[in-house]
Amino acid sequence: MSDLSIELTAPNGRKYQQPTGLFINNEWVASSKGNKITSINPTDESEIAQVHAAEPEDVDKAVEAARAAFNNPTWRDMAPTERGDLMYKLSQLVEQNKELLATIETWDNGKPYQVALNEDLAEVSGCLKYYAGYADKVHGQVIDTGPNKLAYTIREPLGVCGQIIPWNYPLGMAAWKLGPALACGNTIVMKAAEQTPLSILVLANLIKEAGFPPGVVNILNGYGRVAGAAIAQHVGIDKIAFTGSTATGREIMKQASVNLKNITLETGGKSPLIVFEDADMEQAVRWSHIGIMSNMGQICTATSRILVQESIYDTFVEAFKKQVTSTSKVGDPFSDSTFQGPQVTKAQYEKVLGYIEAGKEDGATLAMGGEAYKNVGDGKGFFVTPTVFTNVKSNMRVFREEVFGPFVVIVSFKDEAEALEKANDTTYGLGSAIFTKDIVRAHKLARKIEAGMVWINSSQDSDFRIPFGGVKQSGIGRELGEAGLDAYTNKKSVHVNLGTWL
Ligand code: NAI
Ligand code: MG
Repeated sequence: MSDLSIELTAPNGRKYQQPTGLFINNEWVASSKGNKITSINPTDESEIAQVHAAEPEDVDKAVEAARAAFNNPTWRDMAPTERGDLMYKLSQLVEQNKELLATIETWDNGKPYQVALNEDLAEVSGCLKYYAGYADKVHGQVIDTGPNKLAYTIREPLGVCGQIIPWNYPLGMAAWKLGPALACGNTIVMKAAEQTPLSILVLANLIKEAGFPPGVVNILNGYGRVAGAAIAQHVGIDKIAFTGSTATGREIMKQASVNLKNITLETGGKSPLIVFEDADMEQAVRWSHIGIMSNMGQICTATSRILVQESIYDTFVEAFKKQVTSTSKVGDPFSDSTFQGPQVTKAQYEKVLGYIEAGKEDGATLAMGGEAYKNVGDGKGFFVTPTVFTNVKSNMRVFREEVFGPFVVIVSFKDEAEALEKANDTTYGLGSAIFTKDIVRAHKLARKIEAGMVWINSSQDSDFRIPFGGVKQSGIGRELGEAGLDAYTNKKSVHVNLGTWL
């Protein structure tokens, strides 16, 4: 068992035991073929650790454990209030261990430590606590059809849920999926992203410590095309919830068709942020900077297309560039003054650099940034300077495709009609934002924008109490809020004959 846990010392000096195995049935086990994933520190490209990578056989074992747990009266018949207690306990354990979890998040993902601690981890414990409260409030309905029938619905769990999560908010995405699934009484096989395999394994220990019965939550690391695909097409899994790229979402949808799995997909975006000439300029600049430059631009809802009314375009561009210069400090994510750490992996770093070339080739104007940043430590790491393109046309790749980096295009529009036309000129429909002081215009436009979420005079201030999800090719279904529960229950209808006698 010794190779299933190793002692590590993080760059901030914190020592801890890092599990490295697969978490099945509340036990740590080795992967069946011994294949490993190497976790890399994106700040200096050093190797942090190797963890076990699940094979399809391991997915089978996890599914078996989850199925047994689902049918076991210990979980199946547990009073919902007690289920909520376990979830609440887990939220408290996350809170108590937040410095450790934030440390691992920063080390493995590259996000600034203060952000990991104060935003990501607060969201993780908050989200679990929020759904803990729902565990005993998932009610059915009595439906009146007249005196001859008593009809009611029971909201029952779906069964074994496969959950495939990405690397941009490793623990946050885990909490978004664990919370509603557990509140509704499901069991889970979760696969973390191969780019950020570490923090979730420490969370697994907390799940056991909170007292969840064996098999209720199983956590695997593994490669997407191997373990992810095995989950998506497993006939023993009833539901698949996925967050990641639209291309992979499409693949998962096909795989999930094997047994008509219930699916929730949260995929890509190219979200517009519209600034009208009557907007509070300073607020628009600050929020639009947060909207694309926070989390290294690696946010599915990042407002990556800023549309600005002609009359204020030049003023806005200048103010935005100033804001980037004064706020987007690139550096070591463990340093408290850092706003922007490295991109998560070499692949993402190269993807962003590739789009910088695409922007130039297609004739957009590089207004700032646009290069690799080599001034951190000894010059290694996947850092990119915050990048702004202007003079961008709707047919350019940088206008149409998700970059997923600190990379924004600023486009001008004449009037509201053109703003709307440009905002909706995308295959995506995830986030969107409107800056104006005209409340009539704001609310009217909010209805017309093709997006799952509209921020009026802000950007990215999502909240676990508010539904989150997309339209068009940004996804199917909703996570978070009360709406998040719909994705994890069936409504069973019971008809009781009270007087239709044959
Ligand atoms: P991805 O969508 O391929 O990976 C996300 C998750 O899906 C990971 O756990 C991965 O192992 C799994 N996966 C990959 N291929 C799979 C398959 N065939 N079957 C089942 N599971 C599979 O995204 P990737 O490659 O990490 O990033 C590529 C781009 O995706 C990014 O540049 C960004 O544009 C977008 N993305 C969007 C995210 C979001 O929050 N919506 C998060 C991460 C990436
Ligand atoms: Mg890493």
